[in-house]
Amino acid sequence: EKPYVFVTRKLPEETLTALKQVAEVGMWPHEEKAVPNDVLYAEAEKAEGLLTMLSDKIDEKLLDHAKSLKVIANLAVGYDNIDLEAAKKNNITVCNTPDVLTDSTADLAFSLLLAAARRIVESANYVQEGKWNSWGPLLLAGADVHHKTIGIVGMGRIGEAVARRAKGFDMNILYHNRNRKPSTEQELGAAYKEFHDLLKESDFVVCLAPLTSETKGMFNREAFQFMKKSAIFINAGRGASVDEDALVEALQTGEIDGAGLDVFVKEPIDPNHPLLAMKQVVALPHIGSASVETRLKMSELACRNIARILEGKEAETPVK
Ligand code: GLV
Ligand code: GLV
Repeated sequence: EKPYVFVTRKLPEETLTALKQVAEVGMWPHEEKAVPNDVLYAEAEKAEGLLTMLSDKIDEKLLDHAKSLKVIANLAVGYDNIDLEAAKKNNITVCNTPDVLTDSTADLAFSLLLAAARRIVESANYVQEGKWNSWGPLLLAGADVHHKTIGIVGMGRIGEAVARRAKGFDMNILYHNRNRKPSTEQELGAAYKEFHDLLKESDFVVCLAPLTSETKGMFNREAFQFMKKSAIFINAGRGASVDEDALVEALQTGEIDGAGLDVFVKEPIDPNHPLLAMKQVVALPHIGSASVETRLKMSELACRNIARILEGKEAETPVK
Protein backbone atom coordinates (compact mmCIF):
# COMPACT_ATOMS: atom_id res chain seq x y z
CA GLU A 1 0.00 0.00 0.00
CA LYS A 2 1.28 3.43 -0.99
CA PRO A 3 1.71 6.14 1.64
CA TYR A 4 -0.95 8.84 1.72
CA VAL A 5 -0.22 12.47 0.81
CA PHE A 6 -2.65 15.34 1.19
CA VAL A 7 -2.45 18.48 -0.96
CA THR A 8 -4.22 21.42 0.70
CA ARG A 9 -5.23 23.24 -2.50
CA LYS A 10 -6.12 22.31 -6.06
CA LEU A 11 -2.95 22.00 -8.12
CA PRO A 12 -2.62 21.21 -11.84
CA GLU A 13 -2.88 17.43 -12.28
CA GLU A 14 0.12 17.21 -14.61
CA THR A 15 2.41 18.46 -11.83
CA LEU A 16 1.38 15.56 -9.57
CA THR A 17 2.40 12.71 -11.88
CA ALA A 18 5.71 11.89 -10.20
CA LEU A 19 4.19 12.03 -6.74
CA LYS A 20 1.34 9.73 -7.74
CA GLN A 21 3.84 7.02 -8.66
CA VAL A 22 4.95 6.73 -5.05
CA ALA A 23 1.91 7.92 -3.11
CA GLU A 24 -1.85 7.88 -2.85
CA VAL A 25 -2.72 11.55 -3.32
CA GLY A 26 -5.74 13.33 -1.86
CA MET A 27 -6.37 16.96 -2.75
CA TRP A 28 -8.64 19.73 -1.48
CA PRO A 29 -10.58 20.43 -4.69
CA HIS A 30 -10.77 24.26 -4.53
CA GLU A 31 -8.34 26.77 -5.91
CA GLU A 32 -9.43 29.93 -4.11
CA LYS A 33 -10.87 28.51 -0.94
CA ALA A 34 -8.70 27.29 1.92
CA VAL A 35 -9.19 23.84 3.42
CA PRO A 36 -11.22 24.08 6.65
CA ASN A 37 -9.32 23.19 9.81
CA ASP A 38 -11.37 20.09 10.63
CA VAL A 39 -10.68 18.64 7.17
CA LEU A 40 -6.99 19.53 7.45
CA TYR A 41 -6.77 17.77 10.83
CA ALA A 42 -8.52 14.65 9.58
CA GLU A 43 -6.32 14.47 6.47
CA ALA A 44 -3.10 15.26 8.36
CA GLU A 45 -3.82 12.46 10.78
CA LYS A 46 -3.56 9.81 8.04
CA ALA A 47 -0.95 11.51 5.86
CA GLU A 48 2.78 10.80 5.59
CA GLY A 49 3.19 13.89 3.43
CA LEU A 50 1.48 17.28 3.27
CA LEU A 51 1.76 19.75 0.42
CA THR A 52 0.80 23.07 2.00
CA MET A 53 0.14 26.69 1.04
CA LEU A 54 1.59 29.73 2.82
CA SER A 55 -1.94 30.50 3.98
CA ASP A 56 -2.17 27.20 5.93
CA LYS A 57 -1.20 27.55 9.56
CA ILE A 58 0.84 24.46 10.41
CA ASP A 59 1.29 24.79 14.17
CA GLU A 60 2.42 22.55 17.00
CA LYS A 61 -1.10 21.34 17.75
CA LEU A 62 -1.59 20.11 14.20
CA LEU A 63 1.89 18.56 14.05
CA ASP A 64 1.43 16.71 17.34
CA HIS A 65 -1.83 15.36 15.94
CA ALA A 66 -0.30 14.22 12.62
CA LYS A 67 1.29 11.04 13.94
CA SER A 68 2.42 9.52 10.62
CA LEU A 69 3.66 12.71 9.03
CA LYS A 70 7.21 12.63 7.61
CA VAL A 71 7.34 15.59 5.26
CA ILE A 72 5.71 18.95 4.68
CA ALA A 73 6.38 20.71 1.38
CA ASN A 74 5.26 24.34 1.41
CA LEU A 75 4.40 25.84 -1.99
CA ALA A 76 6.47 28.96 -1.23
CA VAL A 77 9.99 30.04 -0.49
CA GLY A 78 8.82 31.45 2.86
CA TYR A 79 7.86 29.06 5.66
CA ASP A 80 6.81 31.33 8.52
CA ASN A 81 3.41 29.59 8.46
CA ILE A 82 5.04 26.39 9.74
CA ASP A 83 6.28 25.80 13.29
CA LEU A 84 9.77 24.51 12.46
CA GLU A 85 10.63 23.55 16.02
CA ALA A 86 7.50 21.46 16.40
CA ALA A 87 8.28 19.82 13.05
CA LYS A 88 11.81 19.02 14.18
CA LYS A 89 10.55 17.61 17.48
CA ASN A 90 8.26 15.28 15.51
CA ASN A 91 10.98 14.31 12.98
CA ILE A 92 9.18 15.94 10.11
CA THR A 93 11.20 17.35 7.21
CA VAL A 94 10.02 20.77 6.04
CA CYS A 95 10.71 21.81 2.43
CA ASN A 96 10.18 25.05 0.54
CA THR A 97 10.45 26.08 -3.12
CA PRO A 98 13.49 28.35 -3.46
CA ASP A 99 15.31 29.16 -6.72
CA VAL A 100 12.50 28.25 -9.13
CA LEU A 101 10.60 31.40 -8.11
CA THR A 102 13.49 33.85 -7.71
CA ASP A 103 13.28 35.66 -11.04
CA SER A 104 9.49 35.74 -11.23
CA THR A 105 9.27 37.21 -7.75
CA ALA A 106 11.96 39.77 -8.55
CA ASP A 107 10.04 40.71 -11.72
CA LEU A 108 6.93 41.34 -9.64
CA ALA A 109 8.77 43.32 -6.97
CA PHE A 110 10.32 45.51 -9.64
CA SER A 111 6.94 45.90 -11.40
CA LEU A 112 5.48 47.09 -8.13
CA LEU A 113 8.29 49.60 -7.79
CA LEU A 114 7.73 50.89 -11.33
CA ALA A 115 3.95 50.93 -10.88
CA ALA A 116 4.15 52.93 -7.65
CA ALA A 117 6.76 55.35 -9.00
CA ARG A 118 5.04 56.04 -12.33
CA ARG A 119 1.47 55.87 -10.98
CA ILE A 120 0.57 53.10 -13.42
CA VAL A 121 -2.53 51.79 -11.65
CA GLU A 122 -3.86 55.26 -10.90
CA SER A 123 -3.31 56.23 -14.54
CA ALA A 124 -4.96 53.10 -15.93
CA ASN A 125 -7.97 53.73 -13.69
CA TYR A 126 -8.08 57.34 -14.87
CA VAL A 127 -8.43 56.26 -18.49
CA GLN A 128 -10.90 53.53 -17.69
CA GLU A 129 -13.08 55.88 -15.65
CA GLY A 130 -13.34 58.25 -18.64
CA LYS A 131 -11.48 61.08 -16.92
CA TRP A 132 -8.94 61.65 -19.68
CA ASN A 133 -9.88 65.00 -21.22
CA SER A 134 -6.56 66.31 -22.45
CA TRP A 135 -2.83 65.75 -22.41
CA GLY A 136 -1.34 67.73 -19.50
CA PRO A 137 2.26 68.74 -18.75
CA LEU A 138 2.17 67.34 -15.23
CA LEU A 139 -0.88 65.12 -15.59
CA LEU A 140 -0.24 61.97 -13.51
CA ALA A 141 3.47 62.76 -13.40
CA GLY A 142 5.29 60.39 -11.10
CA ALA A 143 8.84 59.87 -9.92
CA ASP A 144 11.81 58.65 -11.94
CA VAL A 145 13.25 55.24 -11.19
CA HIS A 146 16.43 55.34 -13.29
CA HIS A 147 19.53 56.76 -11.58
CA LYS A 148 17.77 56.78 -8.20
CA THR A 149 18.82 54.90 -5.07
CA ILE A 150 17.22 51.57 -4.21
CA GLY A 151 17.62 50.15 -0.70
CA ILE A 152 17.01 46.42 -0.52
CA VAL A 153 16.24 45.02 2.93
CA GLY A 154 16.76 41.26 2.82
CA MET A 155 19.49 40.43 0.31
CA GLY A 156 18.69 36.79 -0.36
CA ARG A 157 18.31 35.27 -3.80
CA ILE A 158 15.29 37.43 -4.60
CA GLY A 159 16.98 40.58 -3.31
CA GLU A 160 19.96 39.88 -5.54
CA ALA A 161 17.67 39.34 -8.54
CA VAL A 162 15.98 42.69 -7.81
CA ALA A 163 19.41 44.32 -7.57
CA ARG A 164 20.27 42.92 -11.01
CA ARG A 165 17.15 44.55 -12.42
CA ALA A 166 17.99 47.80 -10.62
CA LYS A 167 21.43 47.74 -12.20
CA GLY A 168 19.80 47.68 -15.62
CA PHE A 169 17.96 50.87 -14.62
CA ASP A 170 21.27 52.53 -13.67
CA MET A 171 20.21 52.69 -10.03
CA ASN A 172 22.50 53.15 -7.07
CA ILE A 173 22.10 49.98 -4.98
CA LEU A 174 22.15 49.81 -1.16
CA TYR A 175 21.28 46.77 0.90
CA HIS A 176 20.79 45.65 4.45
CA ASN A 177 20.94 42.00 5.46
CA ARG A 178 21.63 39.82 8.48
CA ASN A 179 25.03 39.02 7.00
CA ARG A 180 27.13 41.01 4.62
CA LYS A 181 27.45 39.54 1.12
CA PRO A 182 30.89 40.45 -0.24
CA SER A 183 30.35 38.61 -3.54
CA THR A 184 27.05 40.44 -4.11
CA GLU A 185 28.72 43.73 -3.28
CA GLN A 186 31.30 43.00 -5.92
CA GLU A 187 29.07 41.54 -8.61
CA LEU A 188 26.31 44.12 -8.36
CA GLY A 189 28.08 47.10 -6.90
CA ALA A 190 25.70 47.03 -3.94
CA ALA A 191 26.76 48.91 -0.80
CA TYR A 192 25.99 47.47 2.64
CA LYS A 193 24.26 49.92 5.01
CA GLU A 194 23.03 49.87 8.59
CA PHE A 195 19.22 49.75 8.55
CA HIS A 196 18.68 53.40 9.49
CA ASP A 197 21.30 54.65 7.03
CA LEU A 198 19.64 52.67 4.25
CA LEU A 199 16.27 54.20 5.14
CA LYS A 200 17.70 57.72 5.11
CA GLU A 201 19.49 57.40 1.79
CA SER A 202 17.06 55.39 -0.36
CA ASP A 203 14.49 56.70 -2.83
CA PHE A 204 12.93 53.24 -2.94
CA VAL A 205 12.99 50.99 0.12
CA VAL A 206 12.25 47.40 -0.88
CA CYS A 207 11.46 44.78 1.77
CA LEU A 208 12.26 41.21 0.74
CA ALA A 209 13.17 39.90 4.17
CA PRO A 210 11.70 36.66 5.50
CA LEU A 211 9.40 36.97 8.53
CA THR A 212 11.35 36.16 11.69
CA SER A 213 11.32 37.44 15.26
CA GLU A 214 13.92 39.99 14.14
CA THR A 215 12.05 41.31 11.10
CA LYS A 216 8.56 41.32 12.61
CA GLY A 217 7.36 44.93 12.72
CA MET A 218 10.76 46.31 11.67
CA PHE A 219 9.08 48.87 9.41
CA ASN A 220 7.56 50.80 12.28
CA ARG A 221 6.86 54.47 12.91
CA GLU A 222 10.50 55.27 13.54
CA ALA A 223 11.57 53.50 10.33
CA PHE A 224 9.14 55.52 8.20
CA GLN A 225 10.34 58.72 9.89
CA PHE A 226 13.90 57.92 8.82
CA MET A 227 12.82 57.69 5.16
CA LYS A 228 12.83 60.60 2.73
CA LYS A 229 9.51 62.40 2.26
CA SER A 230 9.79 61.41 -1.41
CA ALA A 231 10.46 57.75 -0.57
CA ILE A 232 8.39 54.90 -1.96
CA PHE A 233 8.13 51.78 0.17
CA ILE A 234 7.80 48.40 -1.55
CA ASN A 235 6.94 45.19 0.29
CA ALA A 236 7.15 41.86 -1.51
CA GLY A 237 8.38 39.95 1.56
CA ARG A 238 5.92 39.42 4.37
CA GLY A 239 3.18 41.74 5.61
CA ALA A 240 4.00 41.31 9.28
CA SER A 241 7.41 42.94 8.76
CA VAL A 242 5.39 46.17 8.66
CA ASP A 243 3.40 48.01 11.31
CA GLU A 244 0.51 48.87 8.97
CA ASP A 245 -0.93 51.57 11.25
CA ALA A 246 2.44 53.30 11.13
CA LEU A 247 2.51 52.94 7.33
CA VAL A 248 -0.97 54.47 7.02
CA GLU A 249 0.11 57.35 9.23
CA ALA A 250 3.35 57.88 7.30
CA LEU A 251 1.39 58.06 4.02
CA GLN A 252 -1.33 60.29 5.46
CA THR A 253 1.08 62.79 6.97
CA GLY A 254 3.40 62.82 3.95
CA GLU A 255 6.24 61.23 5.89
CA ILE A 256 6.71 59.08 2.77
CA ASP A 257 5.29 59.48 -0.73
CA GLY A 258 3.89 56.11 -1.73
CA ALA A 259 3.85 52.36 -1.33
CA GLY A 260 3.64 49.22 -3.42
CA LEU A 261 2.47 46.23 -1.42
CA ASP A 262 2.11 42.59 -2.43
CA VAL A 263 1.78 41.32 1.15
CA PHE A 264 -0.23 42.33 4.21
CA VAL A 265 -0.47 41.57 7.91
CA LYS A 266 -3.84 39.92 7.30
CA GLU A 267 -4.44 38.24 3.95
CA PRO A 268 -6.78 38.80 2.29
CA ILE A 269 -6.69 42.42 3.47
CA ASP A 270 -10.03 43.88 4.61
CA PRO A 271 -11.49 45.74 1.59
CA ASN A 272 -12.18 48.69 3.93
CA HIS A 273 -8.57 48.94 5.09
CA PRO A 274 -7.38 52.58 4.93
CA LEU A 275 -4.36 51.55 2.79
CA LEU A 276 -6.71 50.60 -0.04
CA ALA A 277 -8.35 54.04 -0.08
CA MET A 278 -5.08 55.81 -0.85
CA LYS A 279 -4.22 56.71 -4.43
CA GLN A 280 -0.51 56.54 -3.70
CA VAL A 281 -0.74 52.87 -2.72
CA VAL A 282 -0.55 50.01 -5.21
CA ALA A 283 -1.89 46.87 -3.56
CA LEU A 284 -1.64 43.37 -5.02
CA PRO A 285 -3.01 40.04 -3.74
CA HIS A 286 0.29 38.28 -2.88
CA ILE A 287 1.20 37.34 -6.46
CA GLY A 288 5.00 37.58 -6.23
CA SER A 289 5.72 34.19 -7.78
CA ALA A 290 2.47 33.97 -9.73
CA SER A 291 3.53 33.30 -13.30
CA VAL A 292 2.05 30.15 -14.81
CA GLU A 293 5.52 28.75 -15.56
CA THR A 294 6.85 29.36 -12.08
CA ARG A 295 3.79 28.06 -10.25
CA LEU A 296 4.03 24.82 -12.23
CA LYS A 297 7.72 24.51 -11.34
CA MET A 298 6.97 25.19 -7.67
CA SER A 299 4.31 22.49 -7.64
CA GLU A 300 6.63 19.99 -9.32
CA LEU A 301 9.45 20.79 -6.89
CA ALA A 302 7.16 20.41 -3.87
CA CYS A 303 5.98 17.04 -5.23
CA ARG A 304 9.56 15.85 -5.85
CA ASN A 305 10.49 16.79 -2.29
CA ILE A 306 7.66 14.73 -0.84
CA ALA A 307 8.34 11.78 -3.15
CA ARG A 308 12.04 11.75 -2.23
CA ILE A 309 11.40 11.71 1.50
CA LEU A 310 8.80 8.94 1.14
CA GLU A 311 11.36 6.93 -0.84
CA GLY A 312 13.89 7.38 1.97
CA LYS A 313 16.07 9.86 0.08
CA GLU A 314 17.22 13.36 0.96
CA ALA A 315 14.84 16.16 0.04
CA GLU A 316 15.95 18.39 -2.82
CA THR A 317 15.22 21.67 -1.01
CA PRO A 318 14.77 21.06 2.71
CA VAL A 319 14.58 24.07 5.00
CA LYS A 320 17.92 24.31 6.87
C1 GLV B 1 5.69 33.80 -1.32
O1 GLV B 1 5.44 34.74 -0.60
C2 GLV B 1 6.65 32.80 -1.02
O2 GLV B 1 7.15 32.75 0.11
O3 GLV B 1 6.94 31.99 -1.90
C1 GLV C 1 14.59 33.69 -1.44
O1 GLV C 1 14.91 32.97 -2.36
C2 GLV C 1 15.44 34.65 -0.83
O2 GLV C 1 16.38 34.20 -0.17
O3 GLV C 1 15.22 35.86 -1.03
